[in-house]
Amino acid sequence: MLKFDESARIIASESRFVSGGVNSNFRLGMGPGPLVFTHGEGAYLHDVDGNKLIDYYCGMGATVLGHSPKGVQQAVKDQVEKGILFAGQSPIEYEAARIICERIPSAERLRFGSSGSEVAQAAMRLARAATGRRAIVKFEGHYHGWFDNILWSTAPALADAGPADDPALIAGSKGQGANDGDGLDVLQWNDLAAVEARLAKGDVAALVMEAAMCNQGAIAPGEGYLEGVQAACRKHGTILVFDEVITGFRLGQKGAQGRFGITPDLSLFAKAIANGFPVAAIVGRADLMDLFATGGVLHGGTFNSQPVAMAAMVATQKALTPEHYEKTSVYGVRLRDGIRDIFKEVGIKAQVTGFELMFHIGFGLDAPARNYRDLARADKAGYSRFSQALLHNGVRVLERGAWFVSSEHNDEVVDKTLEAVRAAAKEVAPTLGN
Ligand SMILES: Cc1ncc(COP(=O)(O)O)c(C=O)c1O
Repeated sequence: MLKFDESARIIASESRFVSGGVNSNFRLGMGPGPLVFTHGEGAYLHDVDGNKLIDYYCGMGATVLGHSPKGVQQAVKDQVEKGILFAGQSPIEYEAARIICERIPSAERLRFGSSGSEVAQAAMRLARAATGRRAIVKFEGHYHGWFDNILWSTAPALADAGPADDPALIAGSKGQGANDGDGLDVLQWNDLAAVEARLAKGDVAALVMEAAMCNQGAIAPGEGYLEGVQAACRKHGTILVFDEVITGFRLGQKGAQGRFGITPDLSLFAKAIANGFPVAAIVGRADLMDLFATGGVLHGGTFNSQPVAMAAMVATQKALTPEHYEKTSVYGVRLRDGIRDIFKEVGIKAQVTGFELMFHIGFGLDAPARNYRDLARADKAGYSRFSQALLHNGVRVLERGAWFVSSEHNDEVVDKTLEAVRAAAKEVAPTLGN
């Protein structure tokens, strides 16, 4: 049984300086409390209690190559020698841009930013300028950053969420104004008729979605759904935006759009694009993207295309070869299927669903979730007990059920993980109401 006392002591003491001891609310969640890490290597994180934990947070999905990959480290060291921030252009950002434009189907042009939240804002501004319309459509359970105008209905309580065919717009945080959601409409995902009906009103500037729902769950689009959404967007003059902040470079080298064969008008990338360095990108149709250059649409950011982050990005992208995905997928699938088998063996009712390098576990579900409302019926308290039992067995996973796999989660790591899963599953099974 691992102990986390030193983490707890530091968090309590440093809360004098840092609110809650953490610098993102999403780090507050996990029991027994936020952890403090000293270093990461490969599939492992080392904490201040001396624990060596197999890590499936992977920097909330960012570290596709694992912790501290040598190639990225070296590229960063080399760039630091040359300079840190020029407030001007440097060859490395053009190299980074070329790689993305060659890789990502929708990327005719791009602009870099520093976070997914930020480039989501850029997409909405661009779409409103291009269409002269105000309305934005998003989907229940989809997350596009923490800013006031889009942090709505990301994880609403079902009791507050209204009818499935006309979901209520629920603020994600205290402090958001009632008017901050003006112009925003929320729909159920994977329901094509709902999209067609809403877009037919002819006033929607952009429809923004995760092309596979991964911030909550790991849910693939239903047969024909993305095709239908794209057709409805084209018919009604709405700009289709794929938020690939999680799916990008995780569902394959070309992202969800490459995997599902649908090319949106604009797309957003962050997280895995630079294996943990703060890089984001908005990419898309040249005529839309050029509104930044010549159409009076402002896009700024002191840290955009910061050369050190760009160097990390280029090194990351060079490592994300087709062979990377082939090799890593084998580990991911072995892990996902192994967990499913253990739950069956131990008698835990669960849905283990999703993709090779990102999957999700929902306890208590009878069938795979198709949307947020299905997912919201999972036994979250039971899964939380399981994730804490796993942590005490040396495996760190997100409490919301997501597992992120990196190329460092090799057969040996998967074996150790499955051992821990078996122990944790046996421990919590008697407490679950199956
Ligand atoms: C799908 C999606 N979009 C946007 C964001 C926001 O990105 P960032 O945290 O870099 O601002 C996230 C973050 O988790 C995300 O999962």
